[in-house]
Amino acid sequence: MIRAVIFDLDGVIVSTDEFHYQGWQRLADEEGIYFDRKTNERLRGVSRLESLEIILEKADRNYSREEKAEMAERKNNYYRDLLHTLTPDDVFPGVMEMLKELKEKGIKIAIGSSSKNTPSILQKIGMESSFDAVSDGNQIKRSKPDPEVFLLAASKLQIPPGQCLVVEDADAGVEAAINAGMKCLAVGSASANPKAHLRANNLNEITVEQILNT
Ligand code: BG6
Ligand code: MG
Repeated sequence: MIRAVIFDLDGVIVSTDEFHYQGWQRLADEEGIYFDRKTNERLRGVSRLESLEIILEKADRNYSREEKAEMAERKNNYYRDLLHTLTPDDVFPGVMEMLKELKEKGIKIAIGSSSKNTPSILQKIGMESSFDAVSDGNQIKRSKPDPEVFLLAASKLQIPPGQCLVVEDADAGVEAAINAGMKCLAVGSASANPKAHLRANNLNEITVEQILNT
């Protein structure tokens, strides 16, 4: 029986996944490193520094730790510039309706995101008080596919992992949910992931009953 739903943020609640891509593309272009949307798929759910390491696989030289820190910060500044344009209109279709229905049914809801920008994004989209718990990149040591972020969310909610369902757009996030012993609904970019228990293009295609009966 599902008693809690843990939502990833970027690419599930709000379209900030596109801003992450644009920030990395700008950095890669400046550094003369080949980067495209296909490689970007591997960055979903992965921490900032681990994302940079994936981009640097295509670089033709090694970068020092200091250079990497500067590049990660530069990308984050580009990303945060893009976040200035973020409004509640950027919340994906079906999200608000689903959250409302889950709450009405007494199901706990949480955020489980690798992003250190989670608090400012939730504030920009007017959802800083919408969740029973927020577990994010500021509070964890290991990013997805490690289950830490979802296990922390479950412990904040005081719901056993086996009674939680995760909503994810990243293959690394689907993996993390399974590693946590949770059910998983894969949406968007992860919607073809065979390891997920439920799959949909977006939340409009899924009913709360389907989630609760998983
Ligand atoms: C995840 C995104 O939610 O957060 C990743 O899917 C991103 O693309 C990660 O790298 C870390 O985000 P931030 O905001 O801390 O750089
Ligand atoms: Mg995501």
